Amino acid sequence: MAATGDNLRINSERLWQSLEDMAKIGPGVAGGNNRQTLTDADGEGRHLFAGWCKAAGLTMGVDSMGNMFATRAGTDPDALPVYMGSHLDTQPTGGKYDGVLGVLGALEVVRTLNDMGVRTKHPIVVTNWTNEEGARFAPAMLASGVFAGIHTEDYAKSRKDLDGKLFGEELQRIGWVGDEAVGARKMHAMLELHIEQGPILEAEGKSIGVVTHGQGLWWLEITLTGKDAHTGSTPMNMRVNAGLGMARITERVHQIAMSHQPNAVGAVGQVKVFPNSRNVIPGRVVFTVDIRSPEQAKLDAMKGEVIRAAHAVAKELGLGCEIEDVGHFDPVTFDPGLVKIVRQSAEKLGYSHMDIVSGAGHDACWINRVAPTVMVMCPCVDGLSHNEAEKISPEWAAAGTDVLLHSVLEVAGVVG
Ligand code: GLV
Ligand code: MN
Ligand code: MN
Repeated sequence: MAATGDNLRINSERLWQSLEDMAKIGPGVAGGNNRQTLTDADGEGRHLFAGWCKAAGLTMGVDSMGNMFATRAGTDPDALPVYMGSHLDTQPTGGKYDGVLGVLGALEVVRTLNDMGVRTKHPIVVTNWTNEEGARFAPAMLASGVFAGIHTEDYAKSRKDLDGKLFGEELQRIGWVGDEAVGARKMHAMLELHIEQGPILEAEGKSIGVVTHGQGLWWLEITLTGKDAHTGSTPMNMRVNAGLGMARITERVHQIAMSHQPNAVGAVGQVKVFPNSRNVIPGRVVFTVDIRSPEQAKLDAMKGEVIRAAHAVAKELGLGCEIEDVGHFDPVTFDPGLVKIVRQSAEKLGYSHMDIVSGAGHDACWINRVAPTVMVMCPCVDGLSHNEAEKISPEWAAAGTDVLLHSVLEVAGVVG
């Protein structure tokens, strides 16, 4: 007998246990996780998830980018599936919930529907997108980007990590090249649950963020070329110091973001210094700039300013300067109809909520290009994320997943 009323809730203990079990795979060094994409740990995490999907009666499909799709059949053979999910890969010093909550929350929704014998008209698919983080292989959201037709598969598979290993070869190595064509699946809708990764919901005392927009982003990789030389014996006026150039540009990135307040952020994240020796003036530095804003005009203005600043600093110091775009998406507006459904679900369940703009990038940002898409957020302690100390409460996880459950039921249509 179906139980689909407003009282329907997910099993929060089971959800929490699954989050804890997944976190045992690829432990970090400070209580979080290092389960970077296409590592052995990623492979192990995928197997654990696939086993849980099988136990829940789902049918697994995998595409040639390693995206995983676990389907619960609907009652209408002609109805397009409703997708839910996020990513299981983490930053090198990542938390236990970034992405993972969205995948395991979606699985918990399906487990709850199974427990209650609820059938839906549309099939429901629980998804794990490959390489959301972009920590090992830039850009972020790489495989959802291929799915949405933003990147070609050849481009994605030829991305290299810091050791020069290729994405395509690493995917093969861990055994997750599937036989489905990427992007062949059509979607009725896609819903992604995620922790906020910022401080707003906690500060406002709200359990649910109804995500209306996502901010846009540019990742630039800057290579400065100077001359390796002895740090002791080279006179100051003879140095061509790429490290100094990087330091000045880092400061300029911060100033540029500050000059566009509010709604603008910027930082240098990844840095490779060559030859990286204590007593050699760096002759080459390769580093990435990450700038973001929900406002297109600000985003574009900041990009131009960073590029001009980098060239000016390089000229001042006599450095070579090359700049490559390694990641980009425009600000995102999520589907208004789905946004309304998420808001109404939170309302109906009695969870405090507010509209919010996502500061981070998400697979939903790309999928929004090919299907109606929305996100649900829950708070995280002190807004801390991309840090092993990232923390949420079981209650926040349950609230977000309850809202996901009721939203997906609304979208997938309860039968009977
Ligand atoms: C993805 O985690 C991002 O960089 O926002
Ligand atoms: Mn994430
Ligand atoms: Mn992340």
